[in-house]
Amino acid sequence: MLEGSDGSGKSTLAEKLKTYYDHLGRKVLLTREPGGTQLGEEIRTMILKNTEIEMDPRTEALLYAASRAEHVFKKIKPAVEEGYVVICERYILSSLAYQGYGRDLGPDQVLKINEFATGRFQPDVTFYLKVGWEKTLHRKTSMGGDRLELAGDTFFKKVQEGYQALEKTKGIQVIDASQSPEEIYRECIKILEEGNV
Ligand code: TYD
Repeated sequence: MLEGSDGSGKSTLAEKLKTYYDHLGRKVLLTREPGGTQLGEEIRTMILKNTEIEMDPRTEALLYAASRAEHVFKKIKPAVEEGYVVICERYILSSLAYQGYGRDLGPDQVLKINEFATGRFQPDVTFYLKVGWEKTLHRKTSMGGDRLELAGDTFFKKVQEGYQALEKTKGIQVIDASQSPEEIYRECIKILEEGNV
């Protein structure tokens, strides 16, 4: 799984990793959250495009978890069972950081609904692309910005603090995302090759 705040370079890394596994002759599924399934994409639109109606943080957390359940059971698990390498942008860690910390719901409660939503399905490895929030957010809002990206600096500071608090979680590899895309990619490959993931 690839994690990190908005605009940290997850998509670029995902493409590079896909090419790496393609060359190894592996079947690869590239996907992202929230979404990746038809229903999941509809939920994504509901969460992100809806700027007029105020959404309760609990509703937001449950919608992300619902979209994740679709994603895991309809797409990710079947692909893993068929031998695919699954590369996914964002997973539970995003909900812990954005809803748990950013929306003040607390990581424990958010983890609980996500354990239910995913049946505790866990990735082999999570790369967290770490970069200062001001940098990434400015890149995004200059391109328009969705409901979450427009949520304000205080929210994003809390999200960033959340990621920091969570980066020691088991299975998370912290990558310095201020490096070039090529350097980021090489660091991840090294970890994958050493760990035989
Ligand atoms: P998207 O544009 O897909 O993300 P990115 O910025 O990584 O390109 O938008 C997804 C937004 O949804 C992003 O602001 C993070 C947020 N989000 C949550 O708040 N909770 C979650 O569980 C997930 C998966 C995403």
